[in-house]
Amino acid sequence: MSIAITNTLLEKTRSLSIEETLAFLANEFKDKVVFSTSFGQEDQVITAIIGQNDLPITIFTLDTGRLFQETYDVFHKTLKKYKKEIKVYFPEASKVENLLNKKGPNSFYESVENRKECCFIRKVAPLTKALKGNEIWITGLRAEQSENRNDLDLFEYDEKFDIIKFNPLLKWNLEEVQKYIDDNNVPQNALHKQGFVSIGCAPCTRAITPDEDIRAGRWWWESSHKECGLHQKQ
Ligand code: ADX
Ligand code: SF4
Repeated sequence: MSIAITNTLLEKTRSLSIEETLAFLANEFKDKVVFSTSFGQEDQVITAIIGQNDLPITIFTLDTGRLFQETYDVFHKTLKKYKKEIKVYFPEASKVENLLNKKGPNSFYESVENRKECCFIRKVAPLTKALKGNEIWITGLRAEQSENRNDLDLFEYDEKFDIIKFNPLLKWNLEEVQKYIDDNNVPQNALHKQGFVSIGCAPCTRAITPDEDIRAGRWWWESSHKECGLHQKQ
């Protein structure tokens, strides 16, 4: 059933631009279309498209409580520029208190299990809440970001969250993303100019060198698949 829906959507939007596809989805699924942003370069392109075209799509962010000040700065600038609400989801306070009381503030460095526990509390559980009751989840995922993302489709059914995911920038390369940002004067995270490419929580993200993989700066001390559970297939 869900595969049939994703195929139909692909068919119906095949000849449409990203703007047109987003407008089509907003019209077809009304207020059940949401876009998640972490204010990275890809997400800023999508926010700009939604903002400039005044599309009725809810934008939300997961504030883990451990983000960079530069991320809050671009968040603030984005609000001012597009005058569009960005809904914030926080982790459950009692869960964070309990984690810190039991394991301290930096338990994520100690094991993959601890790291995933923190990601679950601060990201996955709030995301579950944000996606509940919605039908389309728009993301800024790109195929070249990692091996795990290489086999993604433009539209795909996400079993874990029981929702159809739309990844409009799937086939874009980093240069195309950066060009859109420059051409459209889109606010961007100041950390990108300091060698940060993929940006998540402050204690778990570092800058990379030009020869390193795009996601090498995320959970750099781990040799795991480097996904936090937002986009991991079960
Ligand atoms: S992650 O799984 O490693 O954290 P990544 O940073 O590459 O994800 O971002 C991929 C997409 O996941 C983004 O385009 C965005 O849609 C979503 N995303 C990631 N982090 C957040 C966040 N904190 N708030 C909202 N959406 C997020
Ligand atoms: Fe916790 Fe790091 Fe995951 Fe952020 S990225 S939720 S700080 S483990």
